[in-house]
Amino acid sequence: MSEPGTTTPAARFTLDSAFAVGSVNPRLYGSFVEHMGRCVYTGIYEPGHPAADADGLRQDVMELIRELGVSTVRYPGGNFVSGYRWEDSVGPREKRPTRLDLAWRSTETNEFGLGEFMDFCAKTGIEPMMAVNLGTRGVAEAVQLLEYCNQPGGTELSDRRIAHGAKEPYGIRMWCLGNEMDGPWQIGHKTAEEYGRLAAETARAMRMIDPDLELVACGSSGSGISTFAAWEATVLEAAYDQVDYVSLHAYYEEIDGDRDSFLASAVDMEHFIESVVATCDHVRARLKAKKRINLSFDEWNVWYIRRSEAAAPPDWDKAPRLLEDNYSVTDAVVFGSMLIALLRHADRVTSASLAQLVNVIAPIMTEPGGPAWRQTTFYPFAQASAYGRGTVLRVEVDSPTYPTARFGDVPLLHATAVTDDETGDITVFAVNRSQTDALPLEIDLRGVDAGVMVEHLVLADSDPEATNTADRPDRVTPQAATGTTLTDGVLHAELEPLSWNMIRLTGRQN
Ligand code: AHR
Repeated sequence: MSEPGTTTPAARFTLDSAFAVGSVNPRLYGSFVEHMGRCVYTGIYEPGHPAADADGLRQDVMELIRELGVSTVRYPGGNFVSGYRWEDSVGPREKRPTRLDLAWRSTETNEFGLGEFMDFCAKTGIEPMMAVNLGTRGVAEAVQLLEYCNQPGGTELSDRRIAHGAKEPYGIRMWCLGNEMDGPWQIGHKTAEEYGRLAAETARAMRMIDPDLELVACGSSGSGISTFAAWEATVLEAAYDQVDYVSLHAYYEEIDGDRDSFLASAVDMEHFIESVVATCDHVRARLKAKKRINLSFDEWNVWYIRRSEAAAPPDWDKAPRLLEDNYSVTDAVVFGSMLIALLRHADRVTSASLAQLVNVIAPIMTEPGGPAWRQTTFYPFAQASAYGRGTVLRVEVDSPTYPTARFGDVPLLHATAVTDDETGDITVFAVNRSQTDALPLEIDLRGVDAGVMVEHLVLADSDPEATNTADRPDRVTPQAATGTTLTDGVLHAELEPLSWNMIRLTGRQN
């Protein structure tokens, strides 16, 4: 941070198309719909709402989901999945049982179930990512669910799906083998040895139906848990040959007013990713295995967990208001930085799910019978999904730093760059972590074929607490930044204090 009256020295990096991290897997822009709070009920599904279609899906919400650019959706949990009985959620609605959802002390009516979720995916062009219950259930139920979903017909379970109105198999490729099985809060929580065996055996049986499935083993529910890394190593020793991904979950919040550390959350996230990569590769070496295990960062977000824990628990209500965090500009900057962390590791993080999609720690909010609107976090995600596709270039930042209590000295600039493989267009995503000072940025484009600057959009505000609400849904939106230039192969910009930025350049051939 600079002294009053002085300017912050410039942050710099060089782009060179010869130095690439890897291709962005479209699944990096996934999200997550859990049966919890109002994510499903009065979120995506609200029969009788003026915007609902004949199936009860809210068109206003679906429109926003399309605009957000979500590629995959993980379903139906989360902690919910560890009590999930998939059979309850299919067939005629009037016959579906109402049950207690122990994970969220709520009542689940099963009005919205598997078939409705698959309709939702088809209508929004989203790839489903299904989780099986390895908390209270096991190999048999996982295989039965797979048969119900993917077998074309001619068996009791596949014919049951056809009788329920889905003639064509769902063809679900990606399956999560349980959820956060390391967490003591999980229904059916297991040790790493117990879970590793169960994951391996479930995967082996599922592959007997379809060897080409892509299977995700549960990693740790967070890097802070005492079993972290040992858990991954033990699980992978047991299940390495059978699975393709290991999962990571991370949520960040501002603690005790320490905003400087909060703004540096992605330092922790990148360290987490690199530690899991190291653990996967260590097991690979020990097993003398050829294949690599990739990472599915299938829950990530800003989440004010302490506030959620302090709130009164629901009293078995249907769709109670849970985890309805209202995100500020500051939250959006940290959120954007988390997206940058994912992109900077696109070679190994080949799937990710923003938790969650609607109402529950979500980029989209709704009111029952009322409007739907975009939170501040909507914008970084939508921009990254629209333009962060292609090849991620290596960005070695030379940046002034600032002191943080949790992470020591941290660069003020956090950035990544993606080139479109067809057009050569280049998009830079950058965050200025300074709460007080603008940050001059210089990007040397000597190693890329840059044409002209298209736009520099910034999300920032004189009030870092500003949020969007039902009454003021457009209080915070990205704005065009001024003064950004591209001369003699060097881009010059000034990043506002506490800002998320997207700078787009054309490739020379355009
Ligand atoms: O996303 C909310 C909850 O966070 C999920 O249900 C669980 O997997 C995680 O702990």
